[in-house]
Amino acid sequence: MPMDRYEYVSDVWRDGIFDNKVVFCTGGAGSICSAQVRAMVALGANACIIGRNVEKTETMAKDIATARSGAKVIGIGAVDVRRPELLQAAADRCAKELGSIDFVIAGAAGNFLATMDQISPNALKSVIDIDVLGSYNTVKATLPYLVESAAKHRTDGKTRPANGTGGRIIFVSATLHYSGTALQSHVSVAKAGVDAMSVSVAIEQGPKGITSNVIAPGPIADTEGVARLSKKETRVKAYKAVPTGRYGSVKEIADATIYLFSDSGNYVNGETLVVDGGHWHTAGTS
Ligand code: HXC
Repeated sequence: MPMDRYEYVSDVWRDGIFDNKVVFCTGGAGSICSAQVRAMVALGANACIIGRNVEKTETMAKDIATARSGAKVIGIGAVDVRRPELLQAAADRCAKELGSIDFVIAGAAGNFLATMDQISPNALKSVIDIDVLGSYNTVKATLPYLVESAAKHRTDGKTRPANGTGGRIIFVSATLHYSGTALQSHVSVAKAGVDAMSVSVAIEQGPKGITSNVIAPGPIADTEGVARLSKKETRVKAYKAVPTGRYGSVKEIADATIYLFSDSGNYVNGETLVVDGGHWHTAGTS
């Protein structure tokens, strides 16, 4: 009897694995999230990206749509993730125009470099609101659609899910709070909250077929985060502190995203996938 190669080999990183699926992404015009969405679109998905800046979001949507002939990518600007009613309207529009929401990436974030004594209560609140409240609003607005998708994409873990995968969430976090990072207390607090939220969602919504995981990128080249956070003189030091001897690429975050959203990530739930070249393990040694 010929071996069913899919008994052991998942059908990842192939054209069409996300056919007829829709990914909804906040912060989708940013460097990391746009790469995550672009990879999903290249492999078959349609997408809706959300941002605050209208022009930047719409331009990025058009650009991502070039990843695959026939791809539909909607850019919805003027949406602040701190406003639940705007996110709800965006989620409803996405489902109406594209037919479903199968995957959610909660990627919108706020950041700047400042010591504790430089941060006003409103500055701290702004970052927590964007990261934590924004992630909460994103999940809340999309959850009914994700539950619907998850119900259609159940798997027994042995055979390939007939309709592919769906009902999955990725929160984009950071590693700053694992060891404590100067000038980043506000973001560290916020990202710790995001990590905790993901685990709760995983446990609470898991029985409905939802999976919830975190990707924690380390220093990734050509991103707004690295541009904002690293001054020229510290950049070389940070580079040398990465055990792999280089910054990561947005492609490497996209690869982690495909892993978690594909058939290969079926049984991964409530986890944090750190993609940082081993950087955070060096805390205190460099
Ligand atoms: C101290 C600052 C500040 C700074 C703003 N504030 N910048 N305080 N140092 N550099 C204060 C303001 O004075 C104000 O407080 C409060 O923050 C809110 O500022 P607003 O500009 O009114 O708010 P808002 O427009 O909502 O802007 C939010 C923001 C901003 C977080 C401050 O930076 C932003 O919108 N960022 C979004 C894009 C972004 O940051 N992307 C990078 C993500 S990278 P007062 O008291 O004066 O009212 C990332 C990677 C992390 O997250 C991991 C990397 C490894």
